[in-house]
Amino acid sequence: MFTNLINWSKDNYINLPWRDERSLYTTLVSEIMLQQTTVSTVRNHYNRFLETYPTVEKLAQSTEDEVCMAWKGLGYYRRARNLRKAAIDIKEKYEGIIPLDYDDLVSISGIGDYTANAILSIGADQKALAIDANIERVVSRILGIKSKKGPKLHKILKQRFEDGDLNIKKTESYRDLNEAFMDLGRNFCQARKVTCELCPIRKSCEAFKSGEPLSYPESPTVKTAKYYDLKLLRVFIKNRKRIKGYSKSEKEWLAGQIEVPTFVINSEDESLKQYPKLTKKIDLEKLPKFKTSITKYKITNYIVTLTDKEFESFSKSKKYQFFTQDETKTNFATSATKVFKKLNEA
Ligand code: ADE
Repeated sequence: MFTNLINWSKDNYINLPWRDERSLYTTLVSEIMLQQTTVSTVRNHYNRFLETYPTVEKLAQSTEDEVCMAWKGLGYYRRARNLRKAAIDIKEKYEGIIPLDYDDLVSISGIGDYTANAILSIGADQKALAIDANIERVVSRILGIKSKKGPKLHKILKQRFEDGDLNIKKTESYRDLNEAFMDLGRNFCQARKVTCELCPIRKSCEAFKSGEPLSYPESPTVKTAKYYDLKLLRVFIKNRKRIKGYSKSEKEWLAGQIEVPTFVINSEDESLKQYPKLTKKIDLEKLPKFKTSITKYKITNYIVTLTDKEFESFSKSKKYQFFTQDETKTNFATSATKVFKKLNEA
C-alpha cells in the first residue's frame, strides 16, 4: 500500500544529510534537532555539529557551553543540553552503545517517547511509529480518525499501528515509511493545506475519500492568546573588546546563552521573574530602542551605554562578567546581538 509513497520520498529526499551515513547516533542527533526546527534549518547546521561531535564519546566529553556553541542557529537550546546529557547517560549506563529497547531508551536522560521511537524505526528499521505532528496528521487522515490532536489521539494511532490497521507490507521498511509519512506531512498533507492530487496514496486515504481532508484530525480549540507589554533596559558596557554579560540559567529564557545586563523598567505581567527590576530613575526618551517578542511578551528594549563604574549603582550582583565580543567564542543571545547592531558595535 505504501510502496509508491516510499519511492516518492526516496526520489525527492534521499539527499537529506542525516539520511546519508546513518547510525543510531546520527539518528539521535538529527531527530532531536528536527523536533522543533524545520528540515531546511537543520540541513544547514547538521554537518557542522557532527563534525564537532562525531561520536557519543566526544559529545559526552564536552562541556555544556561547548555544545550550546555548536548548536548555534538551531534554537531551543534546552535540546542541546538534553542531547549532551543523553550522551553522558549512554556512555555511563550503556558503555557508549545506544540500546535498542524502548524501555532502556526512555530511561536515558533527554530521550522521550518520540525520540525512542525514532531511534527504533528510523535508526534501526524496527517496527515503531515516531508520532510527531506530521505523522499524527498524516496517519489520522489515512485512517480517517477525527479525534482532537493530543495525547488521546496519539494513543489511538499507536494502537491502530500495532494492530496492523495500516496494512504495511512485509517488504516495506519501517524506516522508509516513517520518513515518507514525515515528507508527505511537510509537502502535500500540511495542517491547513493539502495537495491531494499529487499525493501518491490518496486512493487509500479515508480523509481524501471523505472530500474534506482538512477536517482530519480535529484541531484543539485554541484560546486567543493574551499578550503583555514589557519594557526592558539593556545595559551595554564595553571594556577592551569585551562586553559585560551573564550566562542565563536553566530557569531563564534562552538558558545557556550570554545576555547583556537586563532590567525590567515596566511589565504588564507582574509575575514576570526573568530579570531584576530597575531601581534607578532613568530618562528613556533619548535612548536607542528596538522591539522583540518572546512567548507572550511584546518587548520594547531600551539601550543604555555605561562604564563599568557607572554600572555599580545598577547592580552589585557577581553574576556579571566580561565576555569576549567574538561571536565565534561567546554564545550571545539574539537580544544581545541586536543591542550590538543597534549601537553599530557588531
Ligand atoms: N522530521 C522529524 N524527523 C524527520 C526526518 N527524519 N526526516 C524528515 N523530517 C523529519
